[in-house]
Amino acid sequence: MSLLLNRSVFGDPANAGNVLTREAANQLFHDWVKNERLKLHMKQVAHLMKCWAAEKEGLDEAGQWRWELAGLLHDADWDQWPDQHCKKIIEELENRNIDPEIIRAIASHGPNHFGVEPETNMDKMLFAFDELSGLTHAYSLMRPEGYSGMELKGIKKRFKEKAFAAAVNRDEIMDAMQRAGVELETIMQFIIEKQGEVN
Ligand SMILES: [Fe+2]
Repeated sequence: MSLLLNRSVFGDPANAGNVLTREAANQLFHDWVKNERLKLHMKQVAHLMKCWAAEKEGLDEAGQWRWELAGLLHDADWDQWPDQHCKKIIEELENRNIDPEIIRAIASHGPNHFGVEPETNMDKMLFAFDELSGLTHAYSLMRPEGYSGMELKGIKKRFKEKAFAAAVNRDEIMDAMQRAGVELETIMQFIIEKQGEVN
């Protein structure tokens, strides 16, 4: 099964600045996604995107919401339509006249699956957070204290253990970091600090 999108232009530039309201985004999120584990993953990535936009990109509230929205909806079609993953949410957001920047970020969150290269910072950070967030969460689940007191050296050790969260593709993570121009340790530390705030 190929998830290749076979296209490189997403959305209409005339829609720049158009976003979903938080209510509309939550409605879509809950209508489309029923799997609680996937919901948590999407909320975690959304939170990381929002925090990164605020702290590292220095964006205002509107900018932060654009990043958060990309994170919140990036896997929206995975639960019910895995064979149309990415394609379906892209079409939905295009039909709703959403900002192409957000649609493009979603389209490029798995360049090795969808065939769309991350270009903007938003694209790159969504790709970078996606897999590493999952690995960090798996680590939190095996710690009695969860995220509390989690240390960088612990997550680095798990990263090196190929058998731990084996489905998480380490090569893809390294690829994502390189594209984002962010050190692996920097992003790990960021996730450790922020991800536990989501529940
Ligand atoms: Fe994801």
